[in-house]
Amino acid sequence: MLSKYCLLLFAIVLEYSLNPAVLLHAQGDNPRGFVSIDCGLPKGSDYKESTTELYYKSDANLIDSGESKKLSAVPEEISDEKYLFTLRSFPRGKKNCYTFQPTPGRGNRYLIRATFLYGNYDSLNLLPTFDLTLGAETWSTIVIEDSSKVVRKEIIHVLSSDYVHVCLIKTGTSTPFISAIELRHLNDTESPYSAGSASLQTLRQQYCDKKDSREVFRYEDDIYDRRWTPKKFTKERQTTELDINNTSPSHVPKSALETVCVPDKVSDSLNNIKWETTNKADEFYVFMHFTETKKLDTNEFREFNIYINDELWYDQPVVPPYLGVTSIYTGRPKTGDDVYNIKIEKTENSTLQPIINAYEVYSAKNFSNNGTYDPDVSAILNIKSKYGVTKNWQGDPCEPQDFVWDGLICSYPSSDHSARITSLNLSASKLTGEILGSIVDLTQLKTLDLSHNNLKGQIPEFLSHLKLSVLNLEGNKFTGPVPAQLLENQKNGILLFSYDVSGDEKKNNKYIPIVVGTVLGSVFLAAIFFGLWIIRGRVMRVFKQSIKKPQENISDIEGKVRRFTYSQVLDITKNLHEKLGEGGFGEVYRGSVGDIQVAVKMLSESSDQGSREFQTEVSLLARVHHKNLTSMVGYCNEDTHMGIIYEYMAERNLEEYLSGNSKGISSWVERLQIALGAAQGLEYLHHGCKPAIIHRDVKTSNILLNQQFQAKLADFGLSEAYPAIGGTHISTVFFAGTNGYIDPESRKNNRLTEKTDVFSFGVVLLEMITGKRPLLGPEGNIGIAQWVGNNVQNGFITQVVDVRFEENYDKDSVRKAVNLALTCASEISSRRPTMDEVVKMLKECLAIETDNLDADPNDSNDMFSTDPERSLFPRSRRAS
Ligand SMILES: *[C@@H]1O[C@H](CO)[C@@H](O)[C@H](O)[C@H]1NC(C)=O
Ligand SMILES: *[C@@H]1O[C@H](CO)[C@@H](O)[C@H](O)[C@H]1NC(C)=O
Ligand SMILES: *[C@@H]1O[C@H](CO)[C@@H](O)[C@H](O)[C@H]1NC(C)=O
Ligand SMILES: *[C@@H]1O[C@H](CO)[C@@H](O)[C@H](O)[C@H]1NC(C)=O
Ligand SMILES: *[C@@H]1O[C@H](CO)[C@@H](O)[C@H](O)[C@H]1NC(C)=O
Ligand SMILES: *[C@@H]1O[C@H](CO)[C@@H](O)[C@H](O)[C@H]1NC(C)=O
Repeated sequence: MLSKYCLLLFAIVLEYSLNPAVLLHAQGDNPRGFVSIDCGLPKGSDYKESTTELYYKSDANLIDSGESKKLSAVPEEISDEKYLFTLRSFPRGKKNCYTFQPTPGRGNRYLIRATFLYGNYDSLNLLPTFDLTLGAETWSTIVIEDSSKVVRKEIIHVLSSDYVHVCLIKTGTSTPFISAIELRHLNDTESPYSAGSASLQTLRQQYCDKKDSREVFRYEDDIYDRRWTPKKFTKERQTTELDINNTSPSHVPKSALETVCVPDKVSDSLNNIKWETTNKADEFYVFMHFTETKKLDTNEFREFNIYINDELWYDQPVVPPYLGVTSIYTGRPKTGDDVYNIKIEKTENSTLQPIINAYEVYSAKNFSNNGTYDPDVSAILNIKSKYGVTKNWQGDPCEPQDFVWDGLICSYPSSDHSARITSLNLSASKLTGEILGSIVDLTQLKTLDLSHNNLKGQIPEFLSHLKLSVLNLEGNKFTGPVPAQLLENQKNGILLFSYDVSGDEKKNNKYIPIVVGTVLGSVFLAAIFFGLWIIRGRVMRVFKQSIKKPQENISDIEGKVRRFTYSQVLDITKNLHEKLGEGGFGEVYRGSVGDIQVAVKMLSESSDQGSREFQTEVSLLARVHHKNLTSMVGYCNEDTHMGIIYEYMAERNLEEYLSGNSKGISSWVERLQIALGAAQGLEYLHHGCKPAIIHRDVKTSNILLNQQFQAKLADFGLSEAYPAIGGTHISTVFFAGTNGYIDPESRKNNRLTEKTDVFSFGVVLLEMITGKRPLLGPEGNIGIAQWVGNNVQNGFITQVVDVRFEENYDKDSVRKAVNLALTCASEISSRRPTMDEVVKMLKECLAIETDNLDADPNDSNDMFSTDPERSLFPRSRRAS
């Protein structure tokens, strides 16, 4: 019985967790087409705003980047505007976006408002400047000139897409932020607020202030939620208590019309409405609203003309109706001046002075770019959310063209057609599950690369509905049969199709099932990991076919090693034409085997030690295969010519990036990814190989980088494999390694264990955090671990962080990594973690950076220890 209830409860929780809309709708009913987002508001603290009675919601479900921040002090003027108290700041990434899909969508007119209050939330007192974009185009540049002043950008805009992307673009060094975003549907089909196809940016909405109040009229006074601010046009003001018959299509709130401003003397004109512009080409649209609140005597008459810059603006005299509303506006904008001055002047026959109740000024802005074709946006958003793609996919996928989403290629046909997605590359993106049907909605797709993921199931037949010319599905776990049409297309040469399909349909356990639950409300998140990479000798037999059939057959090696003759090596390298570098025992040349780029290391003929290392490396590389180890294409061993042919590493090695002034890997996230890759390579050598392999020469110059900055451990010349002795691998060795990376304990004892590599890895990680060399000080005798340890002990954690990161790192993530690195580089080997523990910790560091929900919830209390020797790993799984 009890369990039945539990099940029911679980089902309800699940329902809520799967469908956020359920919760959002349950809280408060804003009018249709009204969206009110209080940026940075913690999840679950949505509230009803007191002046508008509209529900303001947290942005937590709308965006997965940025940091939620709170003003430390609330300026007096905004003390009743709660939605300004928090904000979201974006220290990372050049472009960060909110994407809305309001109803009703495309073709409807919306008032969109973005609000910014800096309030020195970061205690830096640096006034930020950044860009704001709407859809595919720049909306405005945000310049914060006063820390306690609110900056609002408001626009009346007809949606050209079902999606509204509001993005913040980092343009300089300051950190973009945003306090609130509001969308209001102007549900009136006959709205006067239009300027042809252009949008209207609010300059002002002002009303004649009844008393010297500071009252701002918004919703529900204004059905569109414009913000009417008070203005004392004249000293003399008259207010009516009577009801105003407001039939004006401009829907000016009655409260903004109750009071009229009137000059003292009958002959006086009203001429204190002015604005300036820095761009003469700006086009201004003016709306003026008049109500007669005085019951006129028979001999009284009020009539006036309106001039802008002394030119009659409206060609008929205005006679405001008693307790009615006249709204004056024209379809023609005012343009061509720097300064605009409105003058309202009584006509000759008028016996009374002119009046004003309220007016609005807007400037026109053309948004000619509609952004990516809506069905493509919808499909790719679906793919993003279903696969949980962790790339920085934000805003419009194809626009602006310098911000196209990573992994997409778009076509931009012509001005009267929207951009389309033509190529989708999600290679090695940790995708799981089956191939999504949404992919077929990308109807212009020509190239699809889903290689090297964890996709399973059958290759769906629907892929043949696309007009694909490239389809790469290699390195997944698909099962047969392969759709006949795809094979047919391949045969006819219209499709370049690569795939591998398991002949063995039995489940294998070589993947990590990760269950991630995103749960709203108070239900907490649980991530359960079970299983580990268990690599047992031979890879399962795969059936592999590819029409990229290089005459050399290189891609088919997998497990076998190809032997080249020296004349083939000369052929490959075009007679050793391009030298890439010089190693300890030979030279490295660039070459190509078929269409595969390679690097060829040739042993210098005299080197004896080189010859031994060469043997070690060839035999090791022939049996180890991992994405984070360099792979050998083949080798040459002919007379005195010994060489190894490796895959080509376009970005060379980590050392070059760390030592130069290179900006290549200047973000902490990128470095973490590289560190994780290198750690995984080492983890595989230690725990995935039997017997375990100790690399013995882990250092930054041995961490190579391919074009995608994927780390690959190289140079196995010193490595040795050790049979297990009671679970631990110990060997007595002649001493080897590189200064600065050498484990002091193993040097002292002349004993080698996996922990020797862990020490060196700790040094590498410290280099990646600090950007410094392993040995410091004028004499090069201070180890990096000692230097970092001292600084950290004194609380100077930010002092050790590489300045190239600027502010683009999460302190908790770096702190955790420093802690990990120092523990790895511990003098006492038993305090060092094992490589699988290192991998786990690095993933957690990465999860903090990417706000990934995989992080272990227990880690939030992980205080930083100033004792580098304190073990982070209370229960070491491996005795040592
Ligand atoms: C438009 O929305 C306002 C505010 O929600 C509502 O009062 C009004 O009736 C709506 N008008 C139409 C034509 O739907
Ligand atoms: C309000 O004004 C409209 C148009 O001016 C008019 O048709 C209507 O009769 C007026 N209603 C009242 C109650 O005065
Ligand atoms: C003023 O009123 C007179 C008499 O009603 C009329 O003839 C004249 O055209 C009016 N003048 C203007 C400028 O409207
Ligand atoms: C917007 O485009 C229209 C039509 O092309 C043009 O007439 C108008 O001047 C443009 N407005 C602005 C502010 O660029
Ligand atoms: C952009 O959207 C507008 C309004 O929806 C539409 O009239 C126009 O044809 C669209 N342009 C393109 C290139 O799709
Ligand atoms: C997809 O991206 C991967 C890695 O970034 C790259 O190696 C591969 O060539 C790309 N595929 C296509 C079809 O361009």
